[in-house]
Amino acid sequence: MLIRNATLLLEGKAARKDILIQGGKIKSMGHFRGKGIDATGLFALPGIIDAHVHLREPGATQKEDFRTGTRAALSGGVTTVLDMPNTSPPTTTLARLREKRALASKKAACDYGFHFGAGEDNFEEVKKAKPGSMKVYMGKTTGDLFLPDEKLIFRHFMNFPREKPVVVHAEDQAIIDAEGRTPLAAQVAVAKAAMLARRASRRMCIAHASTPREIELAKKWEKSLVETCPHYLFLNEKDAEGLGCFGKVYPPLRSERERRGMWAALGSIDYLSTDHAPHLPEEKEGGAAGFPGLGVSLPLMLDAYSRNLVGMDWIISRMCENPARIFNIRGKGRIAPGFQADIVLVDLRREWKVRADGMESRCRWSPYEGRVLRGSVEKAIFRGELAYERGSGIICETKGKEVMAR
Ligand code: DOR
Ligand code: ZN
Repeated sequence: MLIRNATLLLEGKAARKDILIQGGKIKSMGHFRGKGIDATGLFALPGIIDAHVHLREPGATQKEDFRTGTRAALSGGVTTVLDMPNTSPPTTTLARLREKRALASKKAACDYGFHFGAGEDNFEEVKKAKPGSMKVYMGKTTGDLFLPDEKLIFRHFMNFPREKPVVVHAEDQAIIDAEGRTPLAAQVAVAKAAMLARRASRRMCIAHASTPREIELAKKWEKSLVETCPHYLFLNEKDAEGLGCFGKVYPPLRSERERRGMWAALGSIDYLSTDHAPHLPEEKEGGAAGFPGLGVSLPLMLDAYSRNLVGMDWIISRMCENPARIFNIRGKGRIAPGFQADIVLVDLRREWKVRADGMESRCRWSPYEGRVLRGSVEKAIFRGELAYERGSGIICETKGKEVMAR
């Protein structure tokens, strides 16, 4: 298998190369003879690794399941997804992790991993299950996962191996109860999480930072890592108002000032995930919080690139290399010999309009509906196979595998 004449970043510089693929892995980059996928005029990036998605299985497959969610991923150039544990039932026991594994191994069209839920009383289960990553909820959100007490958070921080990441949903429930999901609710929780992580001397990821102050507070502990999501970069509270019930997400969209501040703080953000949280339109009307994001996250960033808001090196490090490193996903996140042949070919000049009804996700709406973006996903190559092509959709369902090191 050969990808011909792609433009890619090599040591920081754009170069035209053919990419030779063998056995699902990148063999080398150079100039080769032979037939293959013509990538003339297209830019090649490593397959995107989205470390924060809600695939809703088991328990809410009317919203999404492993098949529809991973197909939506591929259509956006995402070749690896890490699933969140706030399903019903939540992923807090080895048996439930096994149940998810069995479902995903049959249905996933791209690679995947699982975050394990930190429960009030599942310390032994964590030891038994040996998950690749854990998720702590400091505030209540979709599902029942919630740790009411800092002592429990600290115990999980101590209980879980130091080389593995713990991801924290940092919104302080006491402040939420008093004044709602304000920036302060997020910032206080981040400060607490960073303090507890420091005491436990462990690395910890702040999920979906929505204000620059959260980033600052997280970074008071050197082993903190910070995630943000496209909606905190591309949407603000005015957009939320305009979207009505479709504008509800936790943490909420912030002021224009905070949104701009997030762009100014780009250098301190470690990785970008979608927090793909699909709900059906009727569920949104009933108050459900969350945005779908798979399918548009890379195009949004490419559009920002076309407007000189971000460099290609940032996109590759924050959406590919860093999530691979942070979540111990080996052999992924780079276009280099020996790495898995997950490659997304994008057209940096093509303008297209976001239309949810053409997307793979089961939820069939998007907060970006109607937006014109410059930068499109033309082809997604997964494990060396052409898996998605613009215009044709998913053309090959290679089975995905579990990837986080355990
Ligand atoms: O808006 C959100 N939706 N925030 C979360 O923390 C959870 C997510 C969901 O699972 O629906
Ligand atoms: Zn989430």
